Amino acid sequence: MVVLTKMKLHIVPPSCFARAAGDYIVSILLEIADSFSLTIGTATGGTMEGIYTCLVERALRDSILQESLQKASYFGMDEYVGLCAEDHQSYAFFMRRHLLSPIGIPIENLRLPSEETAIPVPDVFDDYSVYDQMIASLGGLDIQFAGIGENGHLAFNEPGSAITSWTRRVQLAQSTIDANARFFSDPSEVPREAYTMGLQTVLKAKRVILFASGKKKARAIQRMIEGLSGPDCPASFLLSHPDVTVFLDWDAAANLRNVFNP
Ligand code: PGA
Repeated sequence: MVVLTKMKLHIVPPSCFARAAGDYIVSILLEIADSFSLTIGTATGGTMEGIYTCLVERALRDSILQESLQKASYFGMDEYVGLCAEDHQSYAFFMRRHLLSPIGIPIENLRLPSEETAIPVPDVFDDYSVYDQMIASLGGLDIQFAGIGENGHLAFNEPGSAITSWTRRVQLAQSTIDANARFFSDPSEVPREAYTMGLQTVLKAKRVILFASGKKKARAIQRMIEGLSGPDCPASFLLSHPDVTVFLDWDAAANLRNVFNP
């Protein structure tokens, strides 16, 4: 493990990335789980798929872990506009398929930003939404899982997003639409808009673990970790968070000058 600024960095071979990341999540969950139920912010996407598979395998072999995952509350980072929960491309479906159903987590334990919950609550902060209020009413997120976009987005906070943003409806960047086209049989079906947790929502989590694998993420990871924090790379706002772990494979870490040329 390498400590850069306040971020903790784990770099593992690509062949064991998902397993090592899943084991790392388990070690953190077992450390922080107690008699109270956890509130977990969840990420979706290709990177998380294998990680959730490993987490499910561990949970099915460990009844204490399974029980604590079954009673946790889950808040998804984002959801496409216009896709219902039964749509196989929705993040609601992704979460049910890859995490909730295999472990036996009740479906009601997962919430996602939506037309109903991404609306602002008047008189709090600009943009502060019903979704942010729901998270706050449970005492905030104990742990937030995150990925990173090739363009440095965090959830669907695309470049240009303000550090002060809360959960809201956003336009997706063209590079995100292009990257996500691989999940759709017809690229023209990729939604152009989404609901996303805001950067403030993520930054308020007590602990964040960001996962990235593959060469396509190397530039964004280098920008996030070795650049200055700024809206051109929303994930770089995590530099100001007191408890962030970045979990990478060698390919995603390949451009980190301070790690490979210390
Ligand atoms: P990916 O998405 O895991 O499918 O690359 C991550 C993200 O865009 O945040």
